[in-house]
Amino acid sequence: MSKALTQFVCTECGYASAKWLGKCPSCGKFNTLCEEVVAPAETKKPSRAFSALSSRPVPLSQVTFEKIPRVSSGIEELDVVLGGGIVRGSLVLVGGDPGIGKSTLLTQVSAHLAKAHKVLYLSAEESCGQVKLRCERLGLNSDNLYLLNETNIDLAEEAFLDAEFVVIDSIQAVYTEALSSAAGSVGQVRECAAKLMRIAKSKGITFFIVGHVTKEGTLAGPKVLEHIMDTVLYFEGERTENFKILRAVKNRFGSVQEVGVFEMTGEGIFGVSDYSALFLSDTRGEAAGAAVTPSETGNRCMMVEIQTLMAKSSYGLPRRMSLGVDLNRMIVLIAVLEKRCGLPLGTQDIYLNAMGGIRLNEPSADLAVLAALASAEKMTPIGKEVAVFGEVGLTGEVRAVNFADKRVNECMKMGFRRVILPAKNMKACEKFKGKIELVPVSYVSQMIKALF
Ligand SMILES: Nc1ncnc2c1ncn2[C@@H]1O[C@H](COP(=O)(O)OP(=O)(O)O)[C@@H](O)[C@H]1O
Ligand SMILES: [Mg+2]
Repeated sequence: MSKALTQFVCTECGYASAKWLGKCPSCGKFNTLCEEVVAPAETKKPSRAFSALSSRPVPLSQVTFEKIPRVSSGIEELDVVLGGGIVRGSLVLVGGDPGIGKSTLLTQVSAHLAKAHKVLYLSAEESCGQVKLRCERLGLNSDNLYLLNETNIDLAEEAFLDAEFVVIDSIQAVYTEALSSAAGSVGQVRECAAKLMRIAKSKGITFFIVGHVTKEGTLAGPKVLEHIMDTVLYFEGERTENFKILRAVKNRFGSVQEVGVFEMTGEGIFGVSDYSALFLSDTRGEAAGAAVTPSETGNRCMMVEIQTLMAKSSYGLPRRMSLGVDLNRMIVLIAVLEKRCGLPLGTQDIYLNAMGGIRLNEPSADLAVLAALASAEKMTPIGKEVAVFGEVGLTGEVRAVNFADKRVNECMKMGFRRVILPAKNMKACEKFKGKIELVPVSYVSQMIKALF
């Protein structure tokens, strides 16, 4: 194969150079030059007939479409996240930290799909023997599941065309001959993904692509893959915890509101349908410093326990550490508690942890963080049957949050008897009156009074 002409283009300003340079001479940024194939001039120009056809406006009422056929992946939680199953001819990126279970999940999906379809598992990181070993451990076997150990995507292309579903494990380990840069570089990742997209769209082959997350938390190279993909899924969760959350961050065929909860075991990765009590400890309510909040993750409500620990600081500047809640958010909330409720926290080291490795990104957890902090400061447990939710402003006011009725409903289902919630949400929750004790609060100080 003759080598394609390539050039190095700055990702910041578009400056093109024949050689790689550490610093872009045009914009002065470092390490922004990335290798690209120079397309021959004639292929860039669309033919007149084609452009005339495709650029004619069509009335909305006359636009035809087909219902998207979907295939089940065999794992219900994954189907939910995908928006109801796998769409044929789509590109699905599965991202996550190393060791979180991407290969395991896709091996299981491949084995399930292989019952009715021809599936190719391109393993660029592990040998076919290693994949086979994993299949044996997971108890999977199929004659329709083909393994290929190849890093050159140009050579593997022929094998793709025979299959209906292809798994690429991983995009960082494969390379195309068109570029001279190393596998895993931004240029290679982008070029390989673009090549796979062309194959997927022209031949109707479905691709699952594994992408590793870099230290910065974005897929290597930074977000270059997301716009090419139809669906982008991220695996989240602490490596030491058995529970992982699969979240869609982009989905052309479904909502990005859905999440899947998975449990990693020696026999494989399984969807968890009873996820409600995963993020609560057995001894909750016995020790001071913990509060439970109903958290809306994706389209589901889960009860999450927030634990805090305070210790007298032995240095001038107290330490603040947070797992699962944004550190800056926690520092702001500590300041609210000090200033608006008069609790002395300035000399305390404060540690905070959301149970089970879950990440609480939504502001409705604010009030529960404050409840946990106040409980730690007063050395008084909150009690097993109390749940708290609400957003907190800098003046100490408690703001309304969305899905209040759904949250209260979940608290009731999980056996909580008392819910502290924003007063502005009371109207939506009137239907629960008599079934569960609702304590509306407008200010943080009211919550402290209600709790202690
Ligand atoms: N023999 C085994 N028994 C039980 N669990 C295993 C075994 N081998 C690997 N694992 C688990 O599988 C996980 C690796 O999953 P894998 O799908 O290879 O991750 P990824 O592809 O995301 O890097 C590890 O975290 C490990 O806990
Ligand atoms: Mg892997």
